[in-house]
Amino acid sequence: MIKIVTLIGARPQIIKASALSRAIRNHFADSIQEVIVHTGQHYDQNMSAVFIEQLEIPQPNYNLQVGSGTHGKQTARMLEGIEEILLSEKPDFLVVYGDTNSTIAGAMAAAKIHIPVVHIEAGLRSFNKTMPEEINRIACDHMSTLLFSPTLAGLNNLLREGFVVGNQAPFTSDHPGVFHCGDVMFDNSLYFSTISSKESRVLSENQLLPDAFILATIHRDHNTDDRQNMESLFSTLLEASRMTGRKVVLPLHPRTASVLEKQLTVELYKLVSEGKHIRILPPVSFFDMIELERHCHLVMTDSGGVQKEAYFFNKPVVILRNETEWVEIVDAGAGKVCGTHREKILDAVNIFSTRPAPSFPPVFGDGKAAEFICKTLINCK
Ligand code: UD1
Ligand code: UDP
Repeated sequence: MIKIVTLIGARPQIIKASALSRAIRNHFADSIQEVIVHTGQHYDQNMSAVFIEQLEIPQPNYNLQVGSGTHGKQTARMLEGIEEILLSEKPDFLVVYGDTNSTIAGAMAAAKIHIPVVHIEAGLRSFNKTMPEEINRIACDHMSTLLFSPTLAGLNNLLREGFVVGNQAPFTSDHPGVFHCGDVMFDNSLYFSTISSKESRVLSENQLLPDAFILATIHRDHNTDDRQNMESLFSTLLEASRMTGRKVVLPLHPRTASVLEKQLTVELYKLVSEGKHIRILPPVSFFDMIELERHCHLVMTDSGGVQKEAYFFNKPVVILRNETEWVEIVDAGAGKVCGTHREKILDAVNIFSTRPAPSFPPVFGDGKAAEFICKTLINCK
């Protein structure tokens, strides 16, 4: 029996962790014991608890309740709490996801006390170190003992940084194991899509007909913390709605909700909030999000996870950032990187609305990434 500590904290990590917990419950309960630690980075009911309940994740054994704060304060609080738990739990591995402050705090706490770090979603790069996530993911990869990359692009980034594919066990942080395994988010989208169509009422409750709305999400600090970017994005969402004759549905991240009024002009804020072109919703559950993704006309987003889910459900995506880690989506012609540029965004919306649908080659694995990861952990002990 191996013991893992799984670290979660931000919304997408809770969602990703459900794939591994499910694989353990269904196939590896005799060989893997999982202890779940929630840093408390996200804490609102609709940013955390809703996913733990809906996605059948065991209740966390620990919650550090670090809450919000500057990068330094938030990461430091996590580091202290995680180290204490690792010293008392003495797991064989610490499993971390993605690129948030919770990820880097976990990796740093574990690596320094020689607990092997398992990084799920390794190798992704934006090549933009002004993003806190880019710093977190690079540092985390270089402290990890087992690196699981969801994509070939991720694997190639690791090779460029000196990692070696094909190292033999035993693995250490100086001699890490690097694997290409597919995406646990794809596992989840496949698994939950049948359930979500039965459980979710989001379309009927909001009078949304299939293909008659655009789904948008915005939460990156590069966008929310810059007045010009926010004004450009929201005036362009209004224009995209007018141009396509479709409402924009925008489940709003609390970071964005908290600055919306401050960052927009009075007139723009009024137009945005009157609800004629843009329907702002509070953050929605995962089942509701899947339903919105499956039935929208197209997706406009600066989220990493939502870009991929758009692709899983064969929807084109307008990427509201200047770069993407998920280059396969752009290479397939299913995504366009537009930043906050009005013309580029509207051009992309127009192309995706009028030209034949792009293709969506299967580049995110076979839906069994979590099982592969579990088997590898067992073999590497
Ligand atoms: C974090 C991650 C980002 C990820 C995102 C997923 C870092 C550096 N960033 O960004 O990579 O894409 O999560 O959603 O780790 N807030 C609430 N309630 C909550 C959580 C947050 O109101 O439950 C508000 C607070 O005002 C907080 C702000 O959102 O200050 C930002 O939260 P934080 O976790 O620091 O960063 P995110 O923008 O959520
Ligand atoms: N998501 C959700 N409800 C929402 C918005 C997003 O369930 O209102 C899910 C989405 O389906 C995806 C994940 O949250 O699985 C993406 O998280 P987010 O956009 O917060 O972060 P990122 O992926 O950019 O790190």
